[in-house]
Amino acid sequence: MTQAIRIFDTTMRDGEQSPGASMSHAEKIELAKLLEDMAVDVIEAGFPIASQGDFDAVHAIARTIKNSTVCGLSRAGAKDIERCAEAIRPAPRKRIHTFISTSPIHMKHKLQMEPDAVLEAIHGSVSLARNHTDDVEWSAEDATRTERDFLLRAVETAIRAGATTINLPDTVGYSFPSEYGALFADVIANVPGADEVIFSAHCHNDLGLAVANSLAAVQGGARQIECAINGLGERAGNAALEEIVMALRVRGDGMPFTTGVDATRLMMASKMVSRITGFPVQYNKAIVGKNAFAHESGIHQDGMLKHAQTYEIMRPEDVGQGATNLVMGKHSGRHAFKDKLRDMGYELSDNAFQDAFARFKALADRKKHVYDDDIIALVDDAAAHFDDAIKVVRLRVVAGTDGPQTAEIDLEIDGKPAWTTQRGNGPVDAVFNAISVLVPHQAVLDLYQVHAVTEGTDAQAEVSVRLSEHGRIVTARSADADTLVASAKAYASALARLRAKRERGEDAQAAG
Ligand code: KIV
Ligand code: ZN
Repeated sequence: MTQAIRIFDTTMRDGEQSPGASMSHAEKIELAKLLEDMAVDVIEAGFPIASQGDFDAVHAIARTIKNSTVCGLSRAGAKDIERCAEAIRPAPRKRIHTFISTSPIHMKHKLQMEPDAVLEAIHGSVSLARNHTDDVEWSAEDATRTERDFLLRAVETAIRAGATTINLPDTVGYSFPSEYGALFADVIANVPGADEVIFSAHCHNDLGLAVANSLAAVQGGARQIECAINGLGERAGNAALEEIVMALRVRGDGMPFTTGVDATRLMMASKMVSRITGFPVQYNKAIVGKNAFAHESGIHQDGMLKHAQTYEIMRPEDVGQGATNLVMGKHSGRHAFKDKLRDMGYELSDNAFQDAFARFKALADRKKHVYDDDIIALVDDAAAHFDDAIKVVRLRVVAGTDGPQTAEIDLEIDGKPAWTTQRGNGPVDAVFNAISVLVPHQAVLDLYQVHAVTEGTDAQAEVSVRLSEHGRIVTARSADADTLVASAKAYASALARLRAKRERGEDAQAAG
């Protein structure tokens, strides 16, 4: 008989801790809704004590999400736990996830606490959390480098205090699958009360083993896996949610476990996270990479034509990777466009739909063939920039062999018009100089990246920019048939996000 594995998504918490991966309030709610639609069991929505922005996002998600459990992270201190409890309070299903380090190196150098004091903190934090909710997860940070006897005592303390889920993270991505699986089997066999709680795996990918380790943990007795879309997370990231879900689904013969996740939304979730964070998905990324189902060599293509399963262990449509099909042209009407959006999993409000349709018509006028990927870029772009405080209204650029290149730009800043013309060393430099004159800042451009959404010289350009200013890092992305317009919109949007962070008094990335 197959057993259920709970999927705990930490894209908005551990994922957002990845430098440059910050997400806005609206983007977090958008992502949380998609995760709920996908039937993810637990959504770790953030770290409420880290900042007012984090608190507000967790609180808003707790008010919005009805079916998935909404979880907030907190350290062991009473203030952290109270703040977390307050943030998740409106959720019908709510969890406090509290953690403390248990390895000798962390206890000595990071916490500067004696082991007995750590045990006391575990008891105190879990008991306090239980006053606020029946669903309390406790994590032994750096569990894989913790002395085994101490880990057993720590886990027992957490269970006695009322923890309902016990997480044994491979915080530094150091474990091997055989070791990590054995760790779970050992703890489950030797801690009194272990059969009353759910054990959870949380793996980092420093050695590229996060998914393998998570699956080994399941073989050792874990029944929850913590993971993130596209493997986002601290340093090399967390286990990739899409890989875990598909490994368990495709290899049910070898591992009799299932998740409740709707795999047909995986591609959409991957694109959404990539768009929100500005982190591109590598072409050969398992499950959601552009090439994950592409067969280039003649031998493979020949095999595929004769029988798809010669080289394919799952179908692209199983994970929501449609064939790149020609969808519509400039004569397509409102109804056809709405149907197409519905097929692709988008439910837009009336305003968002009108906006997306107007953009689609404008694109179809300029571009001969409009593909699924064009529509995704267009709708995602509309959603990403709907609330932007700084909007690009008009742009004119003079470029070519005879410099200097110049950009003339009209912006709308907080609803007020602003105009300038500036020169630059190349057209992109001219555009960014012009925007910087109208929106002064001290940010450094850490990343400027352009990629074509589809094939062809008339393809839309998708531009990502990452800015940093005194430790604050923001990313933004925009798509347009004109690369310079996309660049201007992405840069203006990043500056708007930076300004919002500055005004909220948020500094460098919050760490767990
Ligand atoms: O990697 C880790 O140990 C964590 C904990 C806070 C669960 O992210
Ligand atoms: Zn982590």
